[in-house]
Formats: sequence, C-alpha cells, structure tokens
Amino acid sequence: MTESTAMKMNVIVVKDRQEGGQRGYQIFKAAYDQGATVYGLATGSTPITTYDALVASDLDFSQMTSVNLDEYVGLAPDHAQSYHYFMQHHLFDQKPFAHSYVPNGLNADAADEMARYDNPIDLQILGLGQNGHIGFNEPGTDPKLGTHKVELTESTIQANARFFDNADEVPRYAYSMGIASIMKSHQILLEAYGEEKADAVKAMIEGPVTPDLPASYLQNHGNVTVILDEGAASKLNLK
Ligand code: F6R
Repeated sequence: MTESTAMKMNVIVVKDRQEGGQRGYQIFKAAYDQGATVYGLATGSTPITTYDALVASDLDFSQMTSVNLDEYVGLAPDHAQSYHYFMQHHLFDQKPFAHSYVPNGLNADAADEMARYDNPIDLQILGLGQNGHIGFNEPGTDPKLGTHKVELTESTIQANARFFDNADEVPRYAYSMGIASIMKSHQILLEAYGEEKADAVKAMIEGPVTPDLPASYLQNHGNVTVILDEGAASKLNLK
C-alpha cells in the first residue's frame, strides 16, 4: 500500500478491491469512533467490499442514520435492481440503521421527494463513473444543484444495462444528491477499482475542476480520501 498526500486529495493505492474494502472499513471506523452519526451511502459494485467489512465488524449502527445517494425513478423498493433492494441485501439486513433514507423511486412528485434530503452528512462514500460522474451527476451538471431529478446519459444507461435483461429496461431517470449536497458532507471517501476507471481517476485528481468531470469538484472539498486499486491508479503521476 502506498499513500500520497502531496495532492489535494489523500490518495491510497491498494492491491485490489478486497484490500480497498478493508481500508474503507477503517475509514468508517475512524469516523464512527469520532462520533459520526449520519452516513452517506452509495450502491454499485465499488462499495461492496467495504460493506462486507462493515457487516463482518462489530460496529453498531442501530442508533445511526444512513442516507443514500440515489435511486432510479420508477423502480419499487423491492425491485431487484432498485438501489433500495441493493442496500437491504448488502448492508441493512445485517447492519440495520435507526433511519435509512433511500430516495423513493415510486414518488412521482420530485419536489416532495427532494424535500427529505440535503441534511448534513458526516461521512459520504462514493463510487466513480467512467465518465467522471458521482451519484448520478453526469458531465455538465450544475454544481450548485442539491438533490434533484436527473435524466440519465446514454453512457450510464449502457454501463448499467449489465444489471438488467437489456438496456431498454434501464430506467431513464433517477433521483440523486447533487454535487452541492455531496460537497456539504464533512468527510468523503471515494473508491474506484479497475483500469476502466483510470482516465476518470486521473482527471478527477490531476485535471482542472470542470463540470465536464463532475468528480473534479472534490478537489475543492478539503477532506477527501480516495482508495484505488493499481488499475484505477495506473495513469496517475503519483510521487
Ligand atoms: C451509485 C452511484 C454511482 C456509482 C458509479 C460507479 O449509488 O451513485 O455514481 O457509484 O456509477 O458504479 P460501480 O461501482 O458499479 O462501478
């Protein structure tokens, strides 16, 4: 494992996502020990090893609150591809929180649904899209937006189609925390694994802060830890 604090973000390079999950868990534990009570959570393949390590741990979240980044509009919480279902399966069934907020994809009233969000988060975990998205904040998203309704880009629909029978079944809209919501978190942990993320990782850390690469706004946060495997870190100029 190598660490570098020379850049604006604390970058940790690990061997693989298993080691990344252990490292992610340590960051959760440190926040927990310091009194964090509100945890911002992500779905997707990236955080699974961290959730596995949380499940295997003795950390008790039964007095804590979790808030999820996003949810597809139109999917019921018990739909197998809903983010609500994912969270139940990977974390909440084994590690219940006192309150878990996942956007309700069946609420057609976006304003009503959004009103439940954007409260302060102590530790937010993020994955990274190949196009640099965080949450469902696609390239070009206004960074001032809080939680909002998003029309998914074709590249995200194609990337997520692997979880559905075909791309036509991927919902076209999602509710997502905005970049402004994410930036309000006290601490951020972003994990990225695999060579296919290497270009987005490089642009996020070493490129300009630009709406073209939403994750680049994290350079302005001040308390971001990035955990990468060697593939995702392969294009960085690590010193
Ligand atoms: C998930 C989310 C997305 C994913 C990103 C990476 O809640 O908000 O931004 O983090 O698409 O997905 P994976 O981890 O599947 O590569």
